[in-house]
Amino acid sequence: MRLRVNGADHEVDVEDDMPLLWVLRDELGITGPKYGCGIAQCGACTVHMGGVAVRSCQVLVGDVDDEVTTIEGLGTPIAMHAVQEAWVEHQVAQCGYCQAGQIMQASAFLDLNPDPTDAQIDAAMSGNLCRCGTYPRIRAAIRTAAAKLQGV
Ligand code: FES
Ligand code: FES
Repeated sequence: MRLRVNGADHEVDVEDDMPLLWVLRDELGITGPKYGCGIAQCGACTVHMGGVAVRSCQVLVGDVDDEVTTIEGLGTPIAMHAVQEAWVEHQVAQCGYCQAGQIMQASAFLDLNPDPTDAQIDAAMSGNLCRCGTYPRIRAAIRTAAAKLQGV
């Protein structure tokens, strides 16, 4: 089976019903997406499929029909995505476990809604849990990233 991930093509020899998260982590060694709950309740495994945020623990690899982007493909340390820059600026991460999923959710959300209200941010991020409680800094970083993306 052929998968395009972070701009590169991969041939993987797996069953169609293996969750995308397993393929990314165990077959391709892409470990940014994390296993949290396995049942679409935490958001730690969030990646983009065709630019849309999906829970990779719930997407069967046989159903992947578009390019997949993980945190590793969003930006690089020297050319960060605006959301990643804002995360650094606000020092959002604590333990970091949830943060790749948070950033992937936030970046896909800002693509759809570049000028969100606080309520829209809260709604969009409500499925991404953080046991360290970084929520206030996540919201602040999303506001900063939104302003940056709009050139404000
Ligand atoms: S591991 Fe996928 S949503 Fe929790
Ligand atoms: S930073 Fe620790 S779980 Fe979110």
